Amino acid sequence: MRKLIKNGQVVTASETVTADVLIDGETIAAIGAPGELSNPNAEVIDAAGQLVLPGGIDAHTHIDMPFMGTTSSDDFETGTRAALFGGTTCVIDFAIPQKGKPMSDALATWRGKSEGKAACDYGFHMCIVEWTDETKANLDAMVDEGITSFKLFTDYPGVFQIDDGAIFRALRWARSRGALIQVHAVNGPATAVLVEEAAAAGKLEPVDHGLCRPSRLEGEATSRMVDLAEVADAPIYIVHLTCAEALKAVQGARRRGVKAFAETCPQYLYLDADQMALPNFEGAKYICNPPIRPAWHADVLWRGMAAGDIQTVATDHCPFNFEGQKDLGRGDFRKIPNGMPGLEPRLPLIHQGVVEGRITINQFVNLVSTAPAKLFGLYPRKGAIVPGADADLVLWDPQRAFDLSHASLHMRVDHSVYEGREVTGGPTRVFVRGELVVDGQTFLGKPGFGRYLKRGPVEY
Ligand code: URP
Ligand code: ZN
Ligand code: ZN
Repeated sequence: MRKLIKNGQVVTASETVTADVLIDGETIAAIGAPGELSNPNAEVIDAAGQLVLPGGIDAHTHIDMPFMGTTSSDDFETGTRAALFGGTTCVIDFAIPQKGKPMSDALATWRGKSEGKAACDYGFHMCIVEWTDETKANLDAMVDEGITSFKLFTDYPGVFQIDDGAIFRALRWARSRGALIQVHAVNGPATAVLVEEAAAAGKLEPVDHGLCRPSRLEGEATSRMVDLAEVADAPIYIVHLTCAEALKAVQGARRRGVKAFAETCPQYLYLDADQMALPNFEGAKYICNPPIRPAWHADVLWRGMAAGDIQTVATDHCPFNFEGQKDLGRGDFRKIPNGMPGLEPRLPLIHQGVVEGRITINQFVNLVSTAPAKLFGLYPRKGAIVPGADADLVLWDPQRAFDLSHASLHMRVDHSVYEGREVTGGPTRVFVRGELVVDGQTFLGKPGFGRYLKRGPVEY
């Protein structure tokens, strides 16, 4: 089955050209000047007035994740369906091993959650939550399974946190295998003291969650992590970077030649710490970790994206319903499940940066698709519009009004953190491996169509 997308503006991370794209089965067969690729047997799709983008890649999701006594509210069927409605055609989620159990068990668990359900292609990062005599063998086995990125935590003491020695060992191992260490970089032990003090003073409202997590503690941990990577001579990727202090640490490291990479998320670009202080416990909707920051940090992050010091925008999609999940923490912020929904509106929110002149259209494509494909071993199969690549394509209307309110979105959660807001630009048609899966407001995809992706070494 051939499809010919005609008259669109093909936008990649490096250029924008008026071109036609021929799809043959699951992959892109050819790209040519308008009219050059006439193929009598192909179904013709008119993309006049539209951009043709490589499908979005969200490299940070937590779908169907058990966390803080509950489970994130999207499963792989609902989460990936919502992703497709927003132009994301591939997600990389996190498998989390139990202490004392092999990583292969966690991989089997997360593959069990996704198989038969995911409507878009997907891969997994593996978390490292302890360092034992078996860890290196576990990590080597994961690389053989196509897992080439590993998340570590300097936060969540007693749960996920591992010490700097273990992090350094992981960096040295990753260097030897072409793998990438990702770090949730916040000083967890210091945060725990601030939380303890707040609790003793009876300060347990949602806003106190943020007050116990000053940006300086993210800057401190980020600085320490990039320094460890420098000494280990290994690349490092800072997940969900939120603030000026952390960006400064990454920028400084990059200027010294360290292969330090950073990801931010739309909530840190559009939301404001004041939202955690909303009355009637509404602030709980905005609780995530690291927390949303005072608005001035967002300007610094946009500038970091424009300058190339932040390479990717993911979502950290970790939705919890307000009723029945967020409200577990009424009267005690320590029990509010940390995380928020974001998978669906990521591309429209970052495209808004193009509309406002903060980044270029090619930087937009790089941030949401090409750079994550490269860093996570999927390029050029994903994140590229070149012959041989998977035909994961998004027809994008740069003028479409994209409503961010709950009633217009498809994530399985009972609210939107962008209620009442609208941005300009959104997908009109979405293809995964050549199949039309979203046509306007109609979902044509199928649960189980998504394939597990074995990923290769990092490219940087
Ligand atoms: O609040 C968040 N980010 N929840 C998900 C877990 C994590 O640390 O990424
Ligand atoms: Zn994290
Ligand atoms: Zn996360």
